[in-house]
Amino acid sequence: MSYDSAIKALSSDALKHVKDYSIIGLGSGRAATALVKSLSRLIEVKDYHIVGIPTSLQIKQVAENGGIPLVEADQVDHIDIVFDGADQIDSQKFVIKGGGGALLRENVLFSLAKKVVVMADKSKFVKNFTRTVPVEVHPFARSSVTNAIEKLGGKVQLRTMDRGYSFFTENGNIILDCDFGTIKNPKVLTQKIKQIAGVLESGIFLRKPDVIYRAKTGGKFDIL
Ligand code: A5P
Repeated sequence: MSYDSAIKALSSDALKHVKDYSIIGLGSGRAATALVKSLSRLIEVKDYHIVGIPTSLQIKQVAENGGIPLVEADQVDHIDIVFDGADQIDSQKFVIKGGGGALLRENVLFSLAKKVVVMADKSKFVKNFTRTVPVEVHPFARSSVTNAIEKLGGKVQLRTMDRGYSFFTENGNIILDCDFGTIKNPKVLTQKIKQIAGVLESGIFLRKPDVIYRAKTGGKFDIL
C-alpha cells in the first residue's frame, strides 16, 4: 500500500511550522526527503533565510540539490525545528528510529530542537513497540554489548549489507538490531541500553515529538 501522496501532502502542510530565519534539522529517509523537497520550494517562493542541518549524507544530497544552505550542528547555538520520519511510534508517542542508520545524529538534533515534527505512515503506529531496536555500537564493543543486551532479554543481530558485509554508520560504528518482542516500557529499556559501555545511541528516543503527522491512504493525513 502506498502512502506517497499523503506523505507529499503532509510535508507541504508541515511547512506551516517554518518561520523565516529558522535553523532546521533535517532527518533522514523518505518522509524527510519529501519534506526537504517541499522546503526547497518554500525557500524559493518566499525568499526565506533558512539554514538546514543534515543528519546523513542521504538527506544532505537532497538538500544540496534543492539549494538549501547547510551548516553542521556544532556551528549553531540552537535548532528551531526538526523534521524527521520514524520507524515505529507507540501509544505513548515514543519513537523508534535508526532504520537507515542515522539514529545518533537524529537523536542529537531531537534533543537540541525547540520543536520536533515527526511524519510517518499509518502502518508504523502501534500500541506497544514490536520492531527491533537499532543500537549504534563502537565496533570494539560488539561482543560485550551483545552479551549485555542479551542479559536485558534482547536477541541481537549485527546489521549487514547485501552479501553479509557489515553495515557501518557515517560515524564509523556498527548497528545491532535488537529484538525485545513487545516493549511495554520503552523509557526504562532505552535508559538501560544507553548505560552499556560501548553503546553510542539507542533507537528509542526519549524526546517525544511535539507534532506527529500520520499519513493515510488516498492522499489523506491527520495530525496527532
Ligand atoms: C533513519 O535512520 C531513520 O531513523 C528514518 O528516519 C526512519 O527509518 C524513517 O524513514 P522513512 O521515512 O524512510 O520510513
